[in-house]
Amino acid sequence: MKDLTPDRASLDAIEIASRDEIGALQLERMKWSLMHAYENVPHYRKAFDDKGVHPGDLKTLSDLAKFPFTVKQDLRANYPFGMFAVPRDRIARIHASSGTTGKPTVVGYTKKDIDTWATVVARSMRASGTKPGDIVHISYGYGLFTGGLGAHYGAEKLGCTVVPVSGGMTERQVTLIEDFKPSTIMVTPSYMLAILDQFRAQGVDPASSSLDVGIFGAEPWTNAMRSEIEQAFDMHAVDIYGLSEVMGPGVANECVETKDGLHIWEDHFYPEIIDPETGEVLPDGEMGELVFTSLTKEAFPIIRYRTRDLTRLLPGTARSMRRMEKVTGRSDDMIILRGVNVFPTQIEEQIVKVGGLAPHFQIELVKKDRMDAMIVHAEATADNASEEERKQSAAELAHHIKSVVGVSAKIDVKDPGAIERSLGKAVRVVDNRNKS
Ligand code: DLL
Repeated sequence: MKDLTPDRASLDAIEIASRDEIGALQLERMKWSLMHAYENVPHYRKAFDDKGVHPGDLKTLSDLAKFPFTVKQDLRANYPFGMFAVPRDRIARIHASSGTTGKPTVVGYTKKDIDTWATVVARSMRASGTKPGDIVHISYGYGLFTGGLGAHYGAEKLGCTVVPVSGGMTERQVTLIEDFKPSTIMVTPSYMLAILDQFRAQGVDPASSSLDVGIFGAEPWTNAMRSEIEQAFDMHAVDIYGLSEVMGPGVANECVETKDGLHIWEDHFYPEIIDPETGEVLPDGEMGELVFTSLTKEAFPIIRYRTRDLTRLLPGTARSMRRMEKVTGRSDDMIILRGVNVFPTQIEEQIVKVGGLAPHFQIELVKKDRMDAMIVHAEATADNASEEERKQSAAELAHHIKSVVGVSAKIDVKDPGAIERSLGKAVRVVDNRNKS
């Protein structure tokens, strides 16, 4: 793999500023953001008043703990435009997150917000090793989802040649990579695996492709998956994090030279970790739920938004800004099986270890004798054809899951290609417990 470490001179000054400088900027911006939300969004005015706090009460960054949280339900209750802090005609763009139940969550951006967003995505791409002039293949979905357009504007801002492919038509993805020779691909890690299969199906060696770096996010993925993808393509695999409520992709990103967690772009997004049960703010280093406050957003200021993502905050390394550990689960995806908490990423880690199994999987929850049970649907690799070999892979996986994760799972090894491929975020858990 190439050394893609960016020149220090190419970084934004604030990325490597002193902690004092970063803190001072955050405090000034946080005061503005709280006041902006209070004065322009009825929801925030009421929530602050109900809690007996006023933006003027914020004297230090830690005073933020006095302010109320915002949850997804608050955004739904104000559907579609009730959380906007500027007149509708100043909104330059709308995005929305699909939401499997009920109404989608709508977010809005002013022209300046779009520019801020492009700046943090460009910064994320530079941290990943992409350089101005590079060709960037974008397979995140374009549309209401923030992935495609978010990546697109960032890539343009960095000065790249953008190939806006979006998701789907996997055969053509391979053709375009072969013909246009991009250095960078931006896509969900699960869809990257579908592209990998397609390379092999076409008899093209993925390691011979032009790709030097993949910028993967929008769903949890493990370091085991990172190694798998890096080896197959002989490229760097770097993690990008974000959520529509806070901005979209580019809230935090790994640095290619360290790959030790994601630096949060703290000049625009202020992170806290809380105990998900009590709401108490936890010190850096402790695991809990990630909460974000936007510091510069005009159209859609967001105060103490509970992401449901579980991680911890760590000191800066390659940049001065703090890191968040790779998100390996969100509270919504946690399976509680006979008292044991299981995240799909823990299953992914074990599957990648077993020879003869492809990295695609889906977890099915069922009721068996009135008890919850878990079936892991895995997929054999093309060279794992005999029933005997597949049985052995299944036994090996069941053993790893039992000994490392601590639960019993039934393993179903399917034919190559039998597990449905996602074009974007993979569906990892199917809950059939209420079906007889
Ligand atoms: O997924 C934004 C995005 C697009 C991020 C492209 C990165 C790349 P939403 O659809 O609102 O926005 O979903 C946000 O996805 O709360 C996490 O649970 C999950 N997520 C996003 N990035 C990561 C990541 C986009 N790198 C939700 N690792 C978040 C783990 C991630 N989970």
